[in-house]
Amino acid sequence: MHATSPAALRPQVLALIDEEVANENLRRHMLACEAIMRALAQRLDEDPDEWGLAGLGHDLDAELTEDDASRHGAVAAQKITELGGSAEVAHAVAAHNDLTGVAAASPMDVALIAADQLSGLITAAALIRPDKSLAQVRLKSLRKRYRETAFARGVDRESIARCQELGLDLEEFMSIGLAAMQGIAGELGLE
Ligand SMILES: [Fe+2]
Repeated sequence: MHATSPAALRPQVLALIDEEVANENLRRHMLACEAIMRALAQRLDEDPDEWGLAGLGHDLDAELTEDDASRHGAVAAQKITELGGSAEVAHAVAAHNDLTGVAAASPMDVALIAADQLSGLITAAALIRPDKSLAQVRLKSLRKRYRETAFARGVDRESIARCQELGLDLEEFMSIGLAAMQGIAGELGLE
């Protein structure tokens, strides 16, 4: 069976998110990861539609698997496969949760792990501002927030640092992620 083109799958994955994800913040998080993944793919000469799809779909099973964390990612990967998504996208989605036992191997796998955490750091950096706006978040403050381990404790800094495996230093990775999320600030509720 041929994989369906990732651009054609986007509306189907969005419809699935609509069905399976009630939490608005989680939906926004997935959109943020999609934007970061697309921008990373552009920077690294990879396929933005493919990488974007991995970002968009990676947590679509988060509510379905609440009672069994080891299935989180694996169920989403299966659903994306059923829609006709590529094996590479499914692998990245499964590998973003280390409890699935699927190890991150490809650049897309690593990018998703790093983007997942970076989106959390950037969102937290916007929400702590009185205006709750992404537009005024600066790279300099993001760097500072990254080093402040007490800030956004749930964000795994080591996962963010894995951008170096993609040949990107922290500075460039954060800059790409920030610009990508600023580009969809309205959709993220952080305008
Ligand atoms: Fe996530």
